[in-house]
Amino acid sequence: KQNIMIAKMKWLLPALCFAFFQTANSQTKDAAYMEKHRPQIHFSPKKGWMNDPNGMVFFNGKYHLFFQHNPDSTVWGPMHWGHAVSTDLVHWEELPIALYPDALGTIFSGSAVIDKDNTAGFGANAMVAIYTSHSHAMEKEGFEKVETQSIAYSLDEGITWTKYKGNPVLPNPGIRDFRDPKVAWYEPTKKWIMTLATMDHITFYSSPDLKNWTEESKFGKNIGAHGGVWECPDIFPLNHEGKQVWVLIVNINPGGPNGGSATQYFTGNFDGHVFTPDDTETKWLDYGPDDYAGITWSNTGDRKIFIGWMSNWAYANIVPTVNWRSANTIARELAIEKTGDKYLVSSAPVKELDILKATSYNAKNVKAKNINITAKAGKLNGPAILKLTADELKAFNITLSNNAGEKVVLGYDKTANQYFIDRSQSGKVDFAKDFGNKIIAPRFSANKNTDITLVIDVASVEVFADKGLSVLTAIFFPTSDYTDITISSKDGFVIKTLNLSHLNSAWK
Ligand code: FRU
Repeated sequence: KQNIMIAKMKWLLPALCFAFFQTANSQTKDAAYMEKHRPQIHFSPKKGWMNDPNGMVFFNGKYHLFFQHNPDSTVWGPMHWGHAVSTDLVHWEELPIALYPDALGTIFSGSAVIDKDNTAGFGANAMVAIYTSHSHAMEKEGFEKVETQSIAYSLDEGITWTKYKGNPVLPNPGIRDFRDPKVAWYEPTKKWIMTLATMDHITFYSSPDLKNWTEESKFGKNIGAHGGVWECPDIFPLNHEGKQVWVLIVNINPGGPNGGSATQYFTGNFDGHVFTPDDTETKWLDYGPDDYAGITWSNTGDRKIFIGWMSNWAYANIVPTVNWRSANTIARELAIEKTGDKYLVSSAPVKELDILKATSYNAKNVKAKNINITAKAGKLNGPAILKLTADELKAFNITLSNNAGEKVVLGYDKTANQYFIDRSQSGKVDFAKDFGNKIIAPRFSANKNTDITLVIDVASVEVFADKGLSVLTAIFFPTSDYTDITISSKDGFVIKTLNLSHLNSAWK
């Protein structure tokens, strides 16, 4: 009997050890997503560095999100394509790294398509990634032509990838900044169109098979903002009351409206060869400092879903997080709105975000007289969405704060007709010069009434005003998470409907 007991004990110890490590392991997993400043409703890599979203493509019910990733460090370095998937744009599962650096270079930004008709010969429905190969080896030797375009394909939904033997598919013509291919199928000419950032303009190329590319035209040398290099473009049509309006997105760094990196866009027409803008005015998709390198998902039909990198090259490498750096914005649906005779692109948080709603507080006809909303609706304990509507927009301030006296103040300045975010007292601000500067966005709507949606996470706020015509995104790093929301107005702003929804974390 004793022998049997001993024999049993022999198994018990390793079993207990195994159970202990399992628990410890799963706790570490959850703990990673509970680290200080870790966004709870925004995608961020479990560890390491992330910048631009890449290769976003919808396939077999899943939204794929690849991203510029340095897995071995929390600062920018040798770029890989990290990979995550979601069925609802809200809950993300990080998968193994998709693309590793190779002899042609590290893997810079790009896009992915589903090659339904097997134009490339990799197989019907192959997922094909089109990206920039950036050769640091050549760069070190002083060469200028370090960026070329390459392709890779996956036949198992982005898990394993084969790089095309004929890479690069688009050699460098002698331009240093020659990158970030966004590829889409253009049905009328039955060709793939590549929109490429080529230093201070866009170059369009076409191809029947993703392998052979012909230059079609150039756009933008003297149009739009030119305070920095053009990067990460995108082009797609949106419908506005039966009319097709083409939107050309051009990210630019630096030179944004509030300093550093930002996303400008043009509206106009594209005929498969040439983009003709409606006007030459500079328009910004998001006036805040923390929405960069954003582009849209491919293969989503008429619905155009955008996501950006929620940081800014001015300070991305030094933000005070420990085991990872940077998150993405919330996924946003883009639409065309007409104000006067101008087409503007509006952004709205995707409706899927509602999946996370926990408790909701509603009120009507609220006078914005220093009222603490969280005193009634419950303190913030993580992410939340605040929605307001009003018949008459007047000056107001919304303050997110903690009991350490740190706060972010945002609102509307009637005299200047501008929305603003002030993060100068938001917590840790002195890690970067200018982080505390006031952030402003013009109001575009000419309506008397307004609607405002704030998407609040532990380290960011995204403001969508007037059906998403004026958008501002800003990150912040309070020493403890904000718990309170107060609203005030010197002009007697009356909120017609107010809704505060506390959200569950997307990680649990
Ligand atoms: C934009 C960008 C891209 C480039 C990538 C490198 O943020 O500079 O132009 O492909 O990041 O990581």
